[in-house]
Amino acid sequence: DEEPAVIVVSNRQPYRHEWDGDEVTVSRPTGGLSSGLDAALREVGGTWIAWGDGDADKVVVDDDCVTVPPDAPEDEQYTLNRVWLDEDEVDNYYYGFSNRVLWPLCHNALTTVRSNVQYWETYRDVNEHFADAIATRASADDVVWLQDYHLALAPQMLGSRLSEDVSVTQFWHIPWPSWDTFRACPHAEELLRGLLGNDLFCVHVPRYRKHFLECVDAALPEAVIDWSTGQVFHRDGTTTVEVFPLGVDLDRIDRHASTAEGREGLESFVADHDIDDDTELLLSVDRLDYSKGILTRLFALEHFLETNPEWRGELTFVQVGTESRSSIPAYSELQTDIGEAVARINERFATADWKPIVYTTDYVANETLYALFRSADICLVTPLRDGMNLVAQEFVAAQTDADPGVLVLSTMAGVHDLVGDAAVSVAPYDTTQFVSGIEEALSMSVDERRERFRELHGEIQHYEVSVWVNEVLDRITSLATSDREQN
Ligand code: G6P
Repeated sequence: DEEPAVIVVSNRQPYRHEWDGDEVTVSRPTGGLSSGLDAALREVGGTWIAWGDGDADKVVVDDDCVTVPPDAPEDEQYTLNRVWLDEDEVDNYYYGFSNRVLWPLCHNALTTVRSNVQYWETYRDVNEHFADAIATRASADDVVWLQDYHLALAPQMLGSRLSEDVSVTQFWHIPWPSWDTFRACPHAEELLRGLLGNDLFCVHVPRYRKHFLECVDAALPEAVIDWSTGQVFHRDGTTTVEVFPLGVDLDRIDRHASTAEGREGLESFVADHDIDDDTELLLSVDRLDYSKGILTRLFALEHFLETNPEWRGELTFVQVGTESRSSIPAYSELQTDIGEAVARINERFATADWKPIVYTTDYVANETLYALFRSADICLVTPLRDGMNLVAQEFVAAQTDADPGVLVLSTMAGVHDLVGDAAVSVAPYDTTQFVSGIEEALSMSVDERRERFRELHGEIQHYEVSVWVNEVLDRITSLATSDREQN
């Protein structure tokens, strides 16, 4: 059988072109998702449709398309098709409805939700733009694979634009909340109907699937649900809702962590930030987002240093943060608060030749980052809510069996549903429990660390990103085949 052509669609593009003086440079946004899908498309070829947000993106396109990765051999390249958004659209669709309504809603941060009619109408318009771009590129038997919460209305819009033999599937990378939360959304029904335009709708863990089906059940009287198969029968057809946890590329991370560039990058990082090699290294790596629990983590560390004075001077907590969505007040305020908390804690505990926290928002190259993961004794992944969390998996992937580090993991991350108590579990809001988790991790024997590491590594192998891509694509293809056989 010939493989179907794949059209990946996401808000965030995998490659961005920008001016640097009079030269055009290419950069890649951070995030495990885009690198995983990039690898998959490099293998199978195809098209990726996304918002062109770089200031030189328009210069390099031909009919809105550019071939990427720029420096890869021809048989590893694919087409990136850019969708253009004007400033109003970016404000109202991206910063507005996507990130001031849907993001906080799905992360149970209801007090952070801000909604208005302009956000909603622009969100609908931009979903139309994407649907139009998809319709231009898709032909019979193709698979359209939408990503995430920016494009909840596009699937239904595709119904009238595409022929029946094009399959449409979507992966929802963030949590799906319970109906009692989701019903706070002023457009709950329209969003659910939009998503039911998919033939296959996928989430990371069973909890989100259950919540999604409960929302459909509560909000859409016309929908009939088969709870055992996850099928939803509705006006426009059938949508199957399934669980496919996303993992990382284990080999690539292991390779990066052991390169000379990685080791050298790590050495400079340690030197630049005056980190004492003899201290235990605690590490966190996050986008600066309120869902990541960075402040509660800092408060827990402060409490730890207060109650465990013997550890002062003996450990260094490195927080790598990536700036994100800064024109939204909840994000810029968070950045200020983190800076202040770090300064206060350092001032409180630092000595002449030691400080407890190293905080940086500088860009860290992949090799350096993975070498840093490898050298960490403890990784603190403690979001208040997280769809999956790939950092936890990247840390495990970068560890080795000889002397593995300990993962301290929030029960609120999707990945916790998968690895359970192989990690040291903490409830992120509970400072007392958080402090005990750090104490437990610091005093854990090498035998126990090895046992937990093997269990964690064994578990995340099942979801390796290449496996994930193949499983989702196989599933949508088999649904399309059985659909054709029935008709
Ligand atoms: C999360 C979302 C992605 C998003 C990423 C970075 O992982 O699930 O869809 O691309 O954050 O956020 P940004 O707003 O910069 O794309």
